[in-house]
Amino acid sequence: MDRIVVQQSGPLSGQVDVPGAKNSVLKLMVASLYAPGRHELTNVPDISDVETMGALLGALGVRVRRDDADDTVLHLHNDGDVRTVAPPDLVTSIRASINVLGPLLAVCGRVRLDMPGGDDFGTRPIDMHIAGLKAMGVDFDIDDHSLAARADRLRGADIVLDFPSVGATENLLTAAVHAEGLTTITNAAREPEVADLCELLVEMGARIQGIGSSVLRIEGVERGSLVPVSHAVVSDRIQAATYLAAVAVAGGSAVVKGARAEHMVVLLNRMNDMGLHLEAVPGGVSIVSEGRMRAVDVQTLPYPGLATDYKPLLVTMLAVAEGMGIVTENLYPGRFRYVEELSKLGADIRTDGHHAIVRGMERLRGAAVVAPDIRAGAALVIAGLAAEGRTVISGIEHIDRGYDDLVGRLVAMGASVARADSADL
Ligand code: UD1
Repeated sequence: MDRIVVQQSGPLSGQVDVPGAKNSVLKLMVASLYAPGRHELTNVPDISDVETMGALLGALGVRVRRDDADDTVLHLHNDGDVRTVAPPDLVTSIRASINVLGPLLAVCGRVRLDMPGGDDFGTRPIDMHIAGLKAMGVDFDIDDHSLAARADRLRGADIVLDFPSVGATENLLTAAVHAEGLTTITNAAREPEVADLCELLVEMGARIQGIGSSVLRIEGVERGSLVPVSHAVVSDRIQAATYLAAVAVAGGSAVVKGARAEHMVVLLNRMNDMGLHLEAVPGGVSIVSEGRMRAVDVQTLPYPGLATDYKPLLVTMLAVAEGMGIVTENLYPGRFRYVEELSKLGADIRTDGHHAIVRGMERLRGAAVVAPDIRAGAALVIAGLAAEGRTVISGIEHIDRGYDDLVGRLVAMGASVARADSADL
């Protein structure tokens, strides 16, 4: 099994480019179910979740392959024979597999799938997806492990979400694309990745208003009226944040090319509050990190608040900052599991319910740690940059699900990081 080996590094310098967003591309791929023909996505990250989603779509009738000359381009060929039963092993390995629900109901009026997988942050229910779809006329047959959904006619509805869930917003809007009449989703998720999906659907012929706002209005259009298009995936704000965090803990200065400052406003503000210097520059975000960071308190919230996916990076930065910071998690109560791993590096972190109290240490020390999920795995690599000696991270298949060459990009900024298999260690 591969591991990532990190030596204390810094100062970092130079430029790093940010690939397209995992949490967008997987949903954009699913949109190929709407229209027979050849679809194209560009700025596609080289991550294993794209391969898993490609295999899932293959089973549903869309052939997916990377371009021979440019592997950031994905070709998706829908041959017009869409199937509605998803293979369990693929569905249970990524959370975004739940995103086939809306499009398959819209296109075929039925779907059968196992409960989706993905990172384990504790319970991840889909009650809002189901309540909204029921309001649109969908009948469900659900047990602990699988669901079957059917709608002979989907009709527009006024749906108010209890919480701006990303996945529920996406499933409801994708189902509404071919529903009869108008669907209004109030308290919709506003994440840039949700807006990216809306923009793709509009380019394909869907009618959606309020993109990027908390009220989406979808006017159903005839089945069969959407057309394939070529679309560039929005850049990944979480991967961008990872390279900013690398410079923050290791010191130095860099430009993260392709990072969209307007999608990361609260994070950039908090990092500036910590004494770092971040600003939007043409085509990216620059960072200068001199001296020790100051601790701040942060809390995760739905967009435009601070994303929960940034949190392991923030905890890592606080672990080496001066003073004490309180981190409050408002989305996933179970999402502090990596704290134990950071503690092995000497971090001083106490958790209490959905709070973590982080006392900054002057230095961390290298150790063997295990990546529990995608973002926490990347945060352990970043922590290793600030740890004396050698940090060895295993479980890196999690990191590969969402990071396109994390190691190569860190090395390009001057970090001492390498992949190694156990035989090399
Ligand atoms: C997506 C992202 C994930 C990110 C999260 C929040 C993908 C593939 N994953 O996950 O990386 O951390 O957004 O920004 O895009 N909830 C319910 N009932 C529901 C739906 C959600 O209670 O029907 C709860 C969840 O358990 C969680 C919270 O709402 O506590 C947020 O979930 P949601 O926004 O739906 O996240 P995902 O779409 O699963």
